Amino acid sequence: MSDERTFIGVDIGGTKIATGLVRGARVLERISLPTLADRPKEDVLRQVFASVDLILERTGHSLGEIAGIGIVAPGPLDPQTGELLYSPNIPALRDVPIAHLMRERYGRPVRVENDANAAGLAEALFGAGAGYAHVFYVTVSTGIGTGVILGGKIYGGRTGMAVEAGHVTIDYEGPLCNCGHRGCIEAFASGTAIARRAKEKLRHATRPSQLLDLVAGDLNAITPIVVGEAARRGDSLALEIVEETARFLSIWLGGMINVFDPDIIVLGGGVSQWGDLLFPRLRELTPTYSILPRAAEIAIVPARLEADVGILGAAALFATP
Ligand code: BGC
Repeated sequence: MSDERTFIGVDIGGTKIATGLVRGARVLERISLPTLADRPKEDVLRQVFASVDLILERTGHSLGEIAGIGIVAPGPLDPQTGELLYSPNIPALRDVPIAHLMRERYGRPVRVENDANAAGLAEALFGAGAGYAHVFYVTVSTGIGTGVILGGKIYGGRTGMAVEAGHVTIDYEGPLCNCGHRGCIEAFASGTAIARRAKEKLRHATRPSQLLDLVAGDLNAITPIVVGEAARRGDSLALEIVEETARFLSIWLGGMINVFDPDIIVLGGGVSQWGDLLFPRLRELTPTYSILPRAAEIAIVPARLEADVGILGAAALFATP
């Protein structure tokens, strides 16, 4: 991207707010503050403001040098009015007119987008999806977020709130999702769901597992990263969790291919760090769950932009008119 203007990108996540100063595809400086997601929305907003103030202070930039502020958060949200409406995993983010509040405080142009849509945009513009016209992006983290990027533009549907594919159900009698429905892929295969399934298995386990050793017996310390580590060491319970996760994701991705027939599927978030434990299996299984005869041609690859993806995606909202 030849855009040499300077932007601020704010990525509001379940545990932290990551904010950075961005030029082109480069994050020049970044900071992170706790979201305080269990507090009232005023406290979360205060953290957002504090993060922007801090990045300006650290980099010595004046507001006049900032061409715009991009904000991304878990949705659904309204990118047209810049209002955060509701978020299954961060209850505090309900009915927050964030674009209005940011404009009022900083007097700069503000754009707001769903975290996964924006991350997908960044991956499509300068990450793993670069050069592809139809990108399906998935992030498997606290929740499961998705974005469809067509010709370098986010597909937002009628209201700008598409594509919430993490809340597509694969089993109407499945586990309860934080959105209130049952069996969403998020309730089976998000980082939270993987940790939950691991705990359940350990509670009923009759054989020893390295998973427990890795967290020194503390079930609450189990994360997908730890499951991956145990699976790499050959732990059979962890390998079982990885295999089930690959199957859940493939069933769902097969359906996504039926709907979108993308050129490439880019998978990010903590679970993508399972790398070779996961991707070959996804490539093998996914086409078997799609009706499209050429589904196996669709590349399924890890995301490239890692932890900066949200910040870059927020700034990239200004890349398109
Ligand atoms: C939300 C999405 C978000 C995803 C990842 C889901 O629960 O519905 O909007 O992109 O989590 O944060």
